[in-house]
Amino acid sequence: MATRTKPTRGQQLQEAINYPLDWVEERSGLVGGIKYFLFRKVPGDVNWFQTLGSATFTAFLVQALTGVILAMYYKPDPKDAYSSIQHITNDIFAGWLVRGMHRWGASVFIILMFMHMGRVFLFGAYKFPRELNWIIGVLLLAMGLGEGFTGYLLPWDQTSYWATVVGININGTAPFLGPFLAQFLQGGTYINADTLSRFYAIHMLMIPGAIAALIGLHMYLVIRLGVTSPPWSKEAAGTGPLEQPSQNGTARSGLTRPGTRKDGR
Ligand code: HEM
Repeated sequence: MATRTKPTRGQQLQEAINYPLDWVEERSGLVGGIKYFLFRKVPGDVNWFQTLGSATFTAFLVQALTGVILAMYYKPDPKDAYSSIQHITNDIFAGWLVRGMHRWGASVFIILMFMHMGRVFLFGAYKFPRELNWIIGVLLLAMGLGEGFTGYLLPWDQTSYWATVVGININGTAPFLGPFLAQFLQGGTYINADTLSRFYAIHMLMIPGAIAALIGLHMYLVIRLGVTSPPWSKEAAGTGPLEQPSQNGTARSGLTRPGTRKDGR
């Protein structure tokens, strides 16, 4: 008769970890997806410059997290906006830190985005088949700048007020759409209480939602197309499925890379 040995502490712990993971995997396939993401192949000679995208993503997460905390105390009303910011800075536990992280983090986010974009440009990583990801990146950049612009007004002090007046006036000078854009941003013909709540809604709901969705799409394409090798690499640039040429010179997807010869080179 087979005797059952008592599981060791280690086995019990393993079981306790595996059980919820298996539960989620059986119902969603999520664990497999995450494993695929973490253990996928990338060129052997990727370097630190290729971490700038992840650094930008981290900066976005910091902005989202600190922004949610600030939103718990901030009041988007001309009467209370400035005093609520003072309250956050001076009275709330670690409020100065959270606000400082959000304010300085905004600049870090934009700077990292530009550095990441510069890396992509200098590595030629915007070329086929990554043009669509470059276009999504440009939209992300525009959204990031919009986030900075709308956030600047929220403290409702003299600097933020007049900077926004200038910003809206510049928008208003754009051909054709300018006046409509200025009117939309102001929520009227001049900056008023509605402008503040409008900027707040755009700043904390509309643009972050759009950025999160675009980052999802951006990452989907990064995983699908693979990461490019540096320009000095001896490996073929890019090892994504679309770039592996088949016998007849077309990529596996059936797309032909512009300028591809019959032999796939
Ligand atoms: C919220 C802003 C952004 C985030 C979070 C983000 C994130 C990432 C990450 C994690 C990668 C893969 C790793 C890497 O190459 O660094 C990547 C690749 C890429 N990004 Fe971005 N990115 C952002 C903005 C941009 C911008 C502004 C552009 C260009 C206009 C851009 C274009 C690309 C392209 C073309 C790739 C593929 C590069 C390759 O395969 O080597 N991204 N991005």
